[in-house]
Amino acid sequence: MAESAELILDGKSISLPVIEGTEHEKAFDIGKLRDQTGYVTLDSGYKNTGATKSAITFLDGEEGILRYRGYPIEQLAEQSSFIEVAYLLIYGKLPTQAELDNFSNQITKHTLVHEDVRKIFDGFPSAAHPMAILSSLICSLTAFYPESVSPDLSKEDTDLNVIRLMAKISTIAAWTYKNNMGHPLNYPRNDLDYCSNFLYMMFSFPTEKYDIDPRIVSALNKLLILHADHEQNCSTSTVRLVGSANASLYGSVSAGINALWGPLHGGANQEVLEMLQAIQKDGGDTSKFIAKAKDKNDSFRLMGFGHRVYKNFDPRAKIIKKAADDVLAALGIDDPLLKIAQELEQAALTDEYFIERKLYPNVDFYSGIIYRAIGIPTEMFTVMFALGRLPGWIAQWKEMRENKEPIGRPRQIYTGETERDYVSIDARS
Ligand code: MLT
Repeated sequence: MAESAELILDGKSISLPVIEGTEHEKAFDIGKLRDQTGYVTLDSGYKNTGATKSAITFLDGEEGILRYRGYPIEQLAEQSSFIEVAYLLIYGKLPTQAELDNFSNQITKHTLVHEDVRKIFDGFPSAAHPMAILSSLICSLTAFYPESVSPDLSKEDTDLNVIRLMAKISTIAAWTYKNNMGHPLNYPRNDLDYCSNFLYMMFSFPTEKYDIDPRIVSALNKLLILHADHEQNCSTSTVRLVGSANASLYGSVSAGINALWGPLHGGANQEVLEMLQAIQKDGGDTSKFIAKAKDKNDSFRLMGFGHRVYKNFDPRAKIIKKAADDVLAALGIDDPLLKIAQELEQAALTDEYFIERKLYPNVDFYSGIIYRAIGIPTEMFTVMFALGRLPGWIAQWKEMRENKEPIGRPRQIYTGETERDYVSIDARS
């Protein structure tokens, strides 16, 4: 492997050191480029730019590989639990039984939120999008725990903030649903595991007992594991950038929630379901919509297909698709939207138009089918993505801080007006 790259600019040659990661990804370090040449690089959307070195998640877009701290997601989805994967991402190793019990018990102890949080809920209109409430209330934790804002927290205090965030997001997420439905809020129970407690808070009613189905708990664990981290995606990069200013964990994650809400990012799972529902409402003729998607004069586009990083398939989609089949079979649900989804997928995997454009199902394509099957409404899908992605955001924020990375401050190429003098208003046209 070359030790460096040589850049020849304006007759001068400079050497850019080459670095190689543990999975043989290569980069050349341009940290001194502007000082040495006066030039900056330009890479809109950062598709060719590494923002950091990270030991958390490795993905290979060509081979469809995704590993958390070296463990393949296929194994974690099958054998682990969401809380165990959260510990793995945040602390870098699989926990011993004692460590897992302590982590899980600490989270359980902190699922209750301050009663004043309920008052904030009362201030939101019932039609407020759950993601607006979630980002607001996660940021409000800095008001309830003002010491969390300090950039010089001890390890113990940082760990407490991590526990509080992991615990309270599940209660706040469930309450956004209840608030949206106009239902009474359910308080968390300390006798239930994380996913069971979330389902209980989401779906139990004072008037009728909610039976927690272990098959749904298993599917939810799998879904949250598959969403837990994805290296430097838009929302994670947002969390790292905001955190690099020494902003608090809660404030950084609140920013990440808003980035994830974007329809081009985590909001895509809601868009997929709305697309399937629109096709169903139109009569369910998928061939008509496939033709529309291929027609460059038609604005219709298939949501949930293709990916910025994966070139052949999204490994998470394969696992989620099987989980969708299993959950619907187990629950005896014959969802017409699943049939529409399967027809669209079949077309995407066989039609040259989609194959050459690498438009195959991604993680968002099937997740909505499962969420629907377990009773989660479409507007809550991106909240579910945020619930799953939280340990990844926390892990990435911690890594950035522990590595003492500098404040993120990209440069630009200015293309505006050159210098000109101020003109008084009466002389303007
Ligand atoms: C994600 O998991 O964050 C999405 O697949 C988007 C991405 O990685 O760019």
